[in-house]
Amino acid sequence: MSQVPTPQQAPTTPPGGAPAGAPAGVHAVEVTDLAVHFRVRRGLGSVHTVRAVDGVSFTVGRGETLGIAGESGSGKSTIARALVQIHRPTAGSMRVGGREAVGLRGSALRAYRRRMQMVYQDPYDSLDPRMNVLRTIGEGLSVRGVARAEHRRQAAELLERVRLPETLLTRYPGQLSGGQRQRVSIARALAVQPEVIVCDEAVAALDVSIRAQILNLLKDIQQDSGISYLFISHDLSTLRFLADRVAIMYLGRIVEHGTATTVFAEPQHPYTQALIAAVPEVRTARVGSRPMLAGEPPDPASPPSGCAFHPRCPRATDVCRTTAPALRRKASGSLAACHHAADAPGGTA
Ligand SMILES: Nc1ncnc2c1ncn2[C@@H]1O[C@H](COP(=O)(O)OP(=O)(O)OP(=O)(O)O)[C@@H](O)[C@H]1O
Ligand code: SF4
Ligand SMILES: [Mg+2]
Repeated sequence: MSQVPTPQQAPTTPPGGAPAGAPAGVHAVEVTDLAVHFRVRRGLGSVHTVRAVDGVSFTVGRGETLGIAGESGSGKSTIARALVQIHRPTAGSMRVGGREAVGLRGSALRAYRRRMQMVYQDPYDSLDPRMNVLRTIGEGLSVRGVARAEHRRQAAELLERVRLPETLLTRYPGQLSGGQRQRVSIARALAVQPEVIVCDEAVAALDVSIRAQILNLLKDIQQDSGISYLFISHDLSTLRFLADRVAIMYLGRIVEHGTATTVFAEPQHPYTQALIAAVPEVRTARVGSRPMLAGEPPDPASPPSGCAFHPRCPRATDVCRTTAPALRRKASGSLAACHHAADAPGGTA
């Protein structure tokens, strides 16, 4: 699969300029043709290949938020885990701050991990219940080589940044509310001074009012620091609020990619249209209330022929069943992989 162009970019230069250590003029993240396949054994010894991520390309600009959406199993977390080097890519390139991240080992890998931090859905999973807030944030400070004597002062500053009182430094995760725990997770990530934070369903477990506070906090931090976010969420209203650009995934591939404004106002792919139509808060008159998505996503170990969405698509025709559509620039300005969405005038991939 060839390199996919970036859709109309949102402004990418943060107020504070490029984060320390990153050469000017390059994307914070540039992922090209990323594939992550898993070999799984099923039944009596037969081995299948699950193409969890299969030829995905995107960029995240400095100070920008790229939102990734898609149904369960579409490959969102696998991208996140590849970026933080939990999964080794099967193929493709991941450049962070202009430097290749695939294949790093030893001290180069440790240095890379400083540049990319992750905030998970459930801080119960990611915060050690035996460590108080000071030690939790101190861990992040130690990664950056901050002397122990400095930890209390800097941890208190980081708590202030996530709008928590210093008095919480001695508390344990079990003594904090869900929103407070997620703020501590964010403070720990910030302690490392990363260029990018990957948020995987980071607000999904929170009540609506707390969710709004955390999203506003993330926005404020981005304004102040120019940090970039890769923000994974099932919730389209969250992405419409936070993301500059969005990528919609289906069965391991990006099927639509554009500015959040355009994708929400003029979705080109029938899958994106169905996702949007299902959410009253983001639905527009133009999208209308289309039929809900029928059926389940297919098994990524045996994807359908042609367009992987064809068994569920109300617009499918013969060509859809035989030929996989390429991501092409559409009339709206977004990229979409659909034979029946009108291309931009003179538009190619
Ligand atoms: N370690 C693994 N071994 C085998 N298959 C895996 C592994 N991790 C993920 N998968 C499979 O890869 C596909 C993508 O999974 P992934 O967790 O990335 O989806 P997701 O979009 O994050 O879903 P959700 O919205 O439920 O979090 C799924 O079919 C999943 O079962
Ligand atoms: S290519 Fe065909 S099946 Fe796939 S989304 Fe477009 S119309 Fe539907
Ligand atoms: Mg996931």
